[in-house]
Amino acid sequence: MMAPPASELGVTLRVLVEDPASSAAQVVTDAPVGAAGDEAAIRALIAPEHAAPASVLTFEHEHVPNALLGDLLDHGTPVHPGPHALVFAQDKIAMRTRLTELGLPCPRWAPVPTDPQAARTVIAEFLAAEPTGEAVAKTSRGGYDGKGVRVITSPDDVTDWIEAAATGAPPLLVEQKVPFTRELAALVARRPSGEVRTWPVVESIQRDGVCSEVIAPAPGLSAALDAQVRELAVAVVDGLDVTGVLAVELFEAPGADGEPVVFVNELAMRPHNSGHWTIDGAVTSQFEQHLRAVLDLPLGATDAVAPWTVMANVLGSTLGELSDALPTVLERFPDAKVNLYGKGIRPGRKLGHVNVSGTDLETVRARALAAAALLRGE
Ligand SMILES: Nc1ncnc2c1ncn2[C@@H]1O[C@H](COP(=O)(O)OP(=O)(O)O)[C@@H](O)[C@H]1O
Ligand SMILES: [Mg+2]
Repeated sequence: MMAPPASELGVTLRVLVEDPASSAAQVVTDAPVGAAGDEAAIRALIAPEHAAPASVLTFEHEHVPNALLGDLLDHGTPVHPGPHALVFAQDKIAMRTRLTELGLPCPRWAPVPTDPQAARTVIAEFLAAEPTGEAVAKTSRGGYDGKGVRVITSPDDVTDWIEAAATGAPPLLVEQKVPFTRELAALVARRPSGEVRTWPVVESIQRDGVCSEVIAPAPGLSAALDAQVRELAVAVVDGLDVTGVLAVELFEAPGADGEPVVFVNELAMRPHNSGHWTIDGAVTSQFEQHLRAVLDLPLGATDAVAPWTVMANVLGSTLGELSDALPTVLERFPDAKVNLYGKGIRPGRKLGHVNVSGTDLETVRARALAAAALLRGE
């Protein structure tokens, strides 16, 4: 999704792919194959024999080796976001610690020691202090799409994780189970020179821990709360020295006086699923903005181009090929912008998305969901 704006801006991409058949390799011609943690592959990516050295190194996921990135930075390759910032998207304990220091709103939380007996004590005491007797346990690293997140009522619910953490797996943390009314996401971009832009705050809807739908802007969000959440996102990128695009996942919950309040859930330091609506629904997409930001070019306007945009994910499909549904989808929904990722079909896999923009939310939402359903074979 970064390839079309790169082409428009005359930016040449070279991308390290894990599989020659991957989505990125289908659209970026210079796509060497290697694992995200492969030092030799990353060094060859930056300074290959066949082409000019890269002017900047950036990422589309967080599972990258920070020590190597620090070394590349020391030897003159700009790396954005830098490893000192990236750690806050890789490690939920580091993130909670830093956001708490910055005074930003987080759920109540505690780090869990790696000693199993001490871990059980900390978790039991945390649960005892929660009014509902419930909490959310998380692995600090390596989780995604709800893997590494468990609602618990006893340390026994995470005996396996406690034992793993005692023998070298990432440590755990425990959090208040936030009684949220919905999940929001704030998207922001920041340049190395400090310029910052935020997009309108959106609602993201998760099914089985996976984002299924995004509504932009978040329906019924007051102008005051939109502004407050955008300020929070700016405080995060400034406080953590983030460069490039950052998505802040948030919970909206009822406050003491009945007015909604927000808590930060987690951070994604890259273009994020909650920002795919910007491809068709905003003046500047998150992918173009990420390129501008990491190249330290002036950022683009982030205004919405329509009152509403709804993004519906295509999660799995019963079709042989998604393109089997294209004649029907394109005929019935000429207003829909279909984006297929060229991935093999597997149950629940993110295979593509549909954006629909317009003036009536109910209509826009119904059309986006119906178009995505056709692509899923429904
Ligand atoms: N403290 C919490 N309280 C209530 N629900 C939570 C909490 N933390 C996570 N969740 C739920 O679990 C989902 C996945 O958690 P998250 O930390 O974002 O992990 P992942 O890295 O898998 O996205 C969230 O989108 C939310 O629905
Ligand atoms: Mg998440």
